[in-house]
Amino acid sequence: MTEPVSVGSRRPIDPAQVCYEGRTCLITGGAGFIGSHLAEELLRRGARVLVLDDLSTGSVANIAALRGQERFEFYEGSVADWPGLEELVERCDEVYHLAAAVGVDYVVKYPIETVTRNIFPTERVLQLAAASRCRVFVASSSEVYGRGSAAPMREEDDTVLGAPDKTRYIYALTKLVDEYLALAYHRQRGLAVVIGRFFNVVGPRQSGRYGMVIPRFVSQALRGGPIVVHDDGNQIRCFMHVRDAVQVMIGLMNNPDAYGQIVNIGSDVAITIRQLAERVREAVGNSVPIKHISYEQAFGPGFEDVRCRIPSLAKLRSLVKLENPRDLAAILRDVIAFEASRSNTEEP
Ligand SMILES: NC(=O)c1ccc[n+]([C@@H]2O[C@H](COP(=O)([O-])OP(=O)(O)OC[C@H]3O[C@@H](n4cnc5c(N)ncnc54)[C@H](O)[C@@H]3O)[C@@H](O)[C@H]2O)c1
Repeated sequence: MTEPVSVGSRRPIDPAQVCYEGRTCLITGGAGFIGSHLAEELLRRGARVLVLDDLSTGSVANIAALRGQERFEFYEGSVADWPGLEELVERCDEVYHLAAAVGVDYVVKYPIETVTRNIFPTERVLQLAAASRCRVFVASSSEVYGRGSAAPMREEDDTVLGAPDKTRYIYALTKLVDEYLALAYHRQRGLAVVIGRFFNVVGPRQSGRYGMVIPRFVSQALRGGPIVVHDDGNQIRCFMHVRDAVQVMIGLMNNPDAYGQIVNIGSDVAITIRQLAERVREAVGNSVPIKHISYEQAFGPGFEDVRCRIPSLAKLRSLVKLENPRDLAAILRDVIAFEASRSNTEEP
């Protein structure tokens, strides 16, 4: 997994060396999980941070600690129609476009909203950013690989989506359209845009409500179980700590070789979901049962899962220097501490 893929002439950027004094950044979806960690990090580095979020899956609790800060501004509204968006983009050097409908549960339940949230708003951001010549990061997803079973998954691989009656692929399709749009704006309008395909970014503040596995398992274990695993639990996934993902995003945004590129963002350390359930139980320190349920019980008829998802990180490593990413033990420690600090009555 360390084969060198060189995407340009420069050396990988060390995100630790990037300074944000005097820069202004807009984060759409900045009250969400990844967005709130990014906001925190950009503020720490000296940036002015503007957040636009409609709080559909995000929450003000995620940014509560930032709201009193002088260089932080929060605007509640949708990227689709918030009238002040043009002005916000004009003030910016960088836009991180994270706002989207996310989570398998959400997508299966709300396919219409998935389309309306994920396509037109992205085009609006790209259009405004191209007009004001600021740089853009567009959040995409490993879901765009579809049912492709290549391991590791490389950015140049074909995408193989299932048939339209398998609702989960609607999310992949919207993110693919976003990728095509971003590349089109790069080629036709010279937009400096980088597309990050996230592979299971996890950590404190991630909600388990829309199908994300680690917060769901941790919360189930803390409440006395059972930990509910879908199907046989042999699905393979890799997990990256959100604080490492944020460093990678900053590195990519500051490496001109990344513009016009699609880049996998994640870890390539693989684990099965059953093993993950066991690691969660061990880390929580109790002996709750692990229960298996069918995909049909979890999502209704016709659900199709992606059995193995491991990213190739060769391109990422040629663009960004990431030293000692946090391992699963560190991820679980942080998520357990976070979940344990939430009220017992709160939903995961
Ligand atoms: N976490 C992951 O592992 C992962 C994996 C693949 C892709 N992604 C992508 O990363 C981005 C961030 O995801 P996240 O995990 O932080 O999820 P999240 O749900 O916590 O964040 C998304 C945020 O966008 C906001 N939002 C949604 N539609 C909006 C709109 N029209 N206008 C304004 N705000 C809106 C939500 O309220 C939320 O705060 C998303 O684009 C998602 O598709 C994340």
